[in-house]
Amino acid sequence: MAFGVLISVAGTLGGYGQEPKKKGADKPDPKKVQALMRRKLDNSQKLLEALILNDLKKVAEHADELNQISKAAEWKVFKTRDYEVFSDDYRHSLEAMRKAAKDKNLEGAKLNYLGLTMGCFNCHAYVRDQGMAWAE
Ligand code: HEC
Repeated sequence: MAFGVLISVAGTLGGYGQEPKKKGADKPDPKKVQALMRRKLDNSQKLLEALILNDLKKVAEHADELNQISKAAEWKVFKTRDYEVFSDDYRHSLEAMRKAAKDKNLEGAKLNYLGLTMGCFNCHAYVRDQGMAWAE
């Protein structure tokens, strides 16, 4: 652990002033990340609306869209196992939601919405703990 920190500090210092372009090159562009994350909020709000109105076709559409968003390159703000696990849980809720919608199971879709929302909260708590990946 301490060794890893040393390596990354040394890496940062070593790279300083030499290859400014390389620094953070593998990190997603914060503006693109923000736009993607905003689409997520948008779709999740529409998902709630569709559930309230019992519009299962729209439920499936927004669940699909949210799933696609989670597969974009900009989604991978953190390259950690924990972030992967949060992302997987989130996708499972979305897949279960889509399936419930296709099966015309409104109650099931509503329950999945709760699981999905817990997924938003859990991952965001993690993101807050880590600090933003691009903030240096
Ligand atoms: C696997 C992790 C993860 C999950 C699950 C997740 N998010 Fe996010 N979210 C992020 C990250 C990473 C950011 C960007 C970091 C930041 O701005 O602090 C973010 C940022 C956001 C933002 C801020 C965008 C801006 O304007 O800066 C909103 C809004 C948001 N998420 C909504 C949601 C909603 C709604 C859900 C659930 C439907 C959700 N997120 C689920 C990781 C996640």
